[in-house]
Amino acid sequence: MTSKEILDKYINFYKERGHVQIPNVSLVPGGDSTLLFVNSGMFPLVPYLAGEPHPAGKRLVNIQRSIRFEDIDEVGDNRHTTCFHMIGNWSLGDYFKKEQLPWIWQFFVEELGMDINKMYGTVFSGNEYAPKDEVSISLLKEIFPKYGIDDPKEGERIFAYEGNWWQRGDAIGELGGPDSEVFVYIGDEGTGFGKDPEEYEDEFLEIGNSVFMQFVKTENGWEELPQKNVDFGGGFERIALVVQGKKDIFETDNFWPIIEKIEELSGKSYYESEEIKRVMRILADHIRSSTFIAMDGVVPSNKDQGYALRRFLRRMVRFARKIGINENVAGSLVPTVASMFEWLYPDLPSKQANIISLFVEEEEKFGKTLAKAAKKVSKRLDNFGGDSANLAEIAFDLFQSMGYPPEMLLEDATDRGIEVNDEEFYKVYKDKFKKHQEGSRQGAEAKFKGGLADHSEQVVKYHTTTHLLHWALRQVLGENVVQHGSNITGERLRFDFNHDAKLTQEEVEKVENLVNEKIKEGLNVDFVIMPKEEALKTGAIHAFGEKYGDDVKVYFIGDSLENAVSKEFCGGPHVKNTSKLDPIKIYKQESVGKGVRRIYAKKVE
Ligand code: ALA
Repeated sequence: MTSKEILDKYINFYKERGHVQIPNVSLVPGGDSTLLFVNSGMFPLVPYLAGEPHPAGKRLVNIQRSIRFEDIDEVGDNRHTTCFHMIGNWSLGDYFKKEQLPWIWQFFVEELGMDINKMYGTVFSGNEYAPKDEVSISLLKEIFPKYGIDDPKEGERIFAYEGNWWQRGDAIGELGGPDSEVFVYIGDEGTGFGKDPEEYEDEFLEIGNSVFMQFVKTENGWEELPQKNVDFGGGFERIALVVQGKKDIFETDNFWPIIEKIEELSGKSYYESEEIKRVMRILADHIRSSTFIAMDGVVPSNKDQGYALRRFLRRMVRFARKIGINENVAGSLVPTVASMFEWLYPDLPSKQANIISLFVEEEEKFGKTLAKAAKKVSKRLDNFGGDSANLAEIAFDLFQSMGYPPEMLLEDATDRGIEVNDEEFYKVYKDKFKKHQEGSRQGAEAKFKGGLADHSEQVVKYHTTTHLLHWALRQVLGENVVQHGSNITGERLRFDFNHDAKLTQEEVEKVENLVNEKIKEGLNVDFVIMPKEEALKTGAIHAFGEKYGDDVKVYFIGDSLENAVSKEFCGGPHVKNTSKLDPIKIYKQESVGKGVRRIYAKKVE
């Protein structure tokens, strides 16, 4: 069965059970993000899991490309990848455990034909906020016998673990809950019966996770949400591995054509040695990540997503050289990725030429640095004394004298078996590089970009204020002003929009006064859900470059949509009335690139 067939089956299975397919979103996080890249299917659904009605209803299904950049050093074994797809289905306060668990097992066993003898279920063992998940245990005890496994016992077929809890992040307002995972045995000893998946983790593969999302993180710990949700995420490439009978994710149709192309370029076979295998896996993973990131409009740079893309490409160049591909590795692999995934991303082939030219340029630049630095790096590492702080000094030197990336030196050191004490390395690194470090790996990982930091009361208030601000800016500066980004924390709001001059003091005051007047008027804040075409006709504003589904949610401020001061496509959440908001002051403004202005505002204390 091909991956495409697996996806078709999944979407149809859930459609038959009343789900609506929602569009996938860009890897670059939009409105609500503390993340560098979208890293799970539930990413755009946070407000809806928290209780906002979704325009497409209460049962949703989709596939979402995701990147976990922090896993970059793990790639090279049979299962880890930075880029993957997550198939997902959601109940927004509708069905719960007793529907989801039988369905997902039915899908895996009956639709995909997985071998039940090799399958195991896990549940949450309990903590101070939620008890042991006995409901899921009894459901699993009914599910296994349907497929011929009589008397599935806890500790044999069903395992309760403390780790069966999922939450996206740690901020106040994050959602979470106990979860139930499906594991498949892929080791060499029969069906794996008698082994504990947690203990023998290399022999088992987690392929799907049903999160029973029913808690929200508050200042006082986890509290019950008003609704009980299901957030299911399945690892698409891993599911393909099981269905296609492999033990190595790179041997499935999601990677294999790339490996074949790498074999052709290098003249080496994947199976020649473990080291060659590792290098080819890294290249195959990184070209998928790079191509999809570039498809979503990112170009290599020293910051944020651009930095991540640069790092993927540079790593590719470095690893390609080890197997004798001495030029144009990334550019040569893009057409393979584009043709493999055209079925999922029909626009990808038309973007191919642009992507290739970006990659070629990057490789030419970096290839030269690498060639120049190779000897020096080797010499310095030969004489390296074993102290991580020294290594940082070397890294700084090589960076300053020839632009050699410090993280690359770390990899060179690790390759030689040098043990690096990260803490010491980064300590020196941190001080020395402050001036130069426009976008370090940590900088990119600790990224806080766009949207809401959390869903605390103050953040929600500032979010509604942002809508008033957007409206007021258009009144004062003209209707061509549109939002280019926003970022809200409990301390302040930040708003980017297109405008190519500094706002005068008079303009700033006008904007503040308009916003503060509307706050005083105590206007209603509400929304309607309608087809996108109709919503566009109402004149509701929408974010720059955002993709929307067929039905959208339009938030308005005023008595009705017709008489509203502000109308915006938005997922929420918002306060119910502007009287809940505090008057604000714009305290800072700056330019953030050509024609884009950024302002900061906070409540008047
Ligand atoms: N959101 C859950 C996960 O990413 C399903 O595992």
